[in-house]
Amino acid sequence: MKLFVDTGSIKDIESIAALGILDGVTTNPSLLAKEPGDFRQNLKRICEIVKGPVSGEVTATDFAGMLQQGHDIAKIDAHMVVKVPLTRDGIRACKALSGEGIRVNVTLCFSAAQALLAAKAGASFISPFVGRLDDIATNGMELIREIVAIYSNYEFTTEILVASCRHPIHIVEAAKLGADIATCPPAVIEQMFNHPLTNIGLEKFLKDWEKTQAVKA
Ligand code: G3P
Repeated sequence: MKLFVDTGSIKDIESIAALGILDGVTTNPSLLAKEPGDFRQNLKRICEIVKGPVSGEVTATDFAGMLQQGHDIAKIDAHMVVKVPLTRDGIRACKALSGEGIRVNVTLCFSAAQALLAAKAGASFISPFVGRLDDIATNGMELIREIVAIYSNYEFTTEILVASCRHPIHIVEAAKLGADIATCPPAVIEQMFNHPLTNIGLEKFLKDWEKTQAVKA
């Protein structure tokens, strides 16, 4: 399974990329709005660091505006993926941009019916938001299970990018269901490393080793 980080922070992306486990980056207007500087230059720098798919989202809501912004985003770098919302105009823009060979990530997906539409429109990625479904007392992972089954029935090549992951269990459950990608904030990747038995075990190994060295000295 591929692991993406969901952030616009170049500092955080650099530090996670240095670990060698980062496959791509997702951004959205809320995340990019937090970062200083020009958003195009920031996205370019992110592409140079990650050398994998980097999603940049359109802010237009009409078909023509989405196409124009989509072309602008795609021009930033060959790694750029154009993110469009799951609306009528978004699905139409997905079909048009995909037809031109531009990769599209259809975002704000909250139902299997919506995921089916995105696949039919040639999306490279579909982004179901599990955390936001959990927030309204609806099991987000059930949606992933449904999309995995539907895409596999028809051999759609659209990759399932599980978004709005809020904790390591979301990532593990997504992996168990066979989702292609999970994207999460930097803090969740940090949490994935943590286990108290790892720390306790390492401390004991090092203490035992130090004792041996003291005897030899
Ligand atoms: O990739 C979508 C993500 O940014 C949404 O996450 O935590 O705001 O629901 P969240």
